[in-house]
Amino acid sequence: MYHIISIRDFERRDLDYLLDRAQEFDTGDYRPGILDDKLVALLFFEPSTRTRMSFATAMARLGGRSIGVDSVEASSIVKGETLADTIRVVGGYVDAIVLRHPKEGAARLASEFASVPVINAGDGAGQHPSQTLLDLYTIRQSMPIDGIDVGLLGDLRYGRTAHSLALALSLYGVTLHTIAPGGLEMPANIALELRERGMEVVEHSDVQEAIRDLDVLYVTRIQRERFPDSASYYNVASSYRITPDHLAGVKDRLMILHPLPRAGEIDPAVDRTPYARYFEQASNGVPIRMALLHEVMK
Ligand code: CP
Repeated sequence: MYHIISIRDFERRDLDYLLDRAQEFDTGDYRPGILDDKLVALLFFEPSTRTRMSFATAMARLGGRSIGVDSVEASSIVKGETLADTIRVVGGYVDAIVLRHPKEGAARLASEFASVPVINAGDGAGQHPSQTLLDLYTIRQSMPIDGIDVGLLGDLRYGRTAHSLALALSLYGVTLHTIAPGGLEMPANIALELRERGMEVVEHSDVQEAIRDLDVLYVTRIQRERFPDSASYYNVASSYRITPDHLAGVKDRLMILHPLPRAGEIDPAVDRTPYARYFEQASNGVPIRMALLHEVMK
C-alpha cells in the first residue's frame, strides 16, 4: 500500500482493512498528533471542494500539515514543466503527495517518479480510489456490502467514481444495475472486466425499472468537463433527475448516494427523505482520508 492509485491494486482484505482503520479514526481511537512530524502536498490540477478539503482536514486532525497547488495556472506547469519533474521536485519537500489531474493515468505516472507515496485524488475519467473507500464506508455503516443490489445512475462513461466503485463492489458479490443515458454507458472494457471478476451486471434503460430492487442508488453527475464539445454535452444534459416521485415502493433501507457535486440530478426535495445519505457520505471523507494518510506515512 505504498501508493494508492487504483482500486484494481486492492484485494478485498485491503479494502476491509482500510475501512476498519477509518472506523477507528472516526471513533477517535488513535493517538493525538500521530502524524505531527509529517507534511503532505495537495497537488490539485482540477477543481475540488470535498477531496481537497477533506484531505487537508484529515491531515490536520492527525497533527500533520499540508501545502499545495490549486491549479495548473498557479504552478510552473504553465512554464512548460512536466508532471514528472513537478513530482520529482515536490517529492523532495514532503512525505506524501495527493494528486488530482485531468489526465487518466497521471497518478500512476507520478508514482513512477515520486520518492514518496502518491495518493490518486482523481485522474481524468480513470479512478478515484479514496472516494470509493468512503462510498464503501457509508454503505457499510448501514448494511453489510456482500450480496446487495447497487444501481449506478448517470455518466458511467466518464465518471471515475463509478468506475472505481464498480470494481470495488465486484469484490463483494454485489449485483450491479447500470442506468446511463445513451452514449454514456460503462466503457465496454470495464463492463467486461466486471463480468470476468464474476459480477452480475444488469443494464437498464430507466431508473424506474430497477429502483425497487436496489439497496443503494449511486447517482453521478454528467462530467461536462470531459465532453469533446458543448453540443454533445447538451444532447444528454438534464436527461435524468431523481425526485420524491421515484421513491414510491422502494426498499426501506434504500440509500441514495452521490459523490457530489450535484448539478440537477437529484431534486433537493429528496434531501428531506430518509433515503438521502450523500451529505453524510461526504463527511465520511475525513476518516477515510485519515486512514489513507496514516497508512502511507506511518
Ligand atoms: N466527490 C468529489 O471528488 O468532489 P470534489 O470534486 O469536490 O473533490
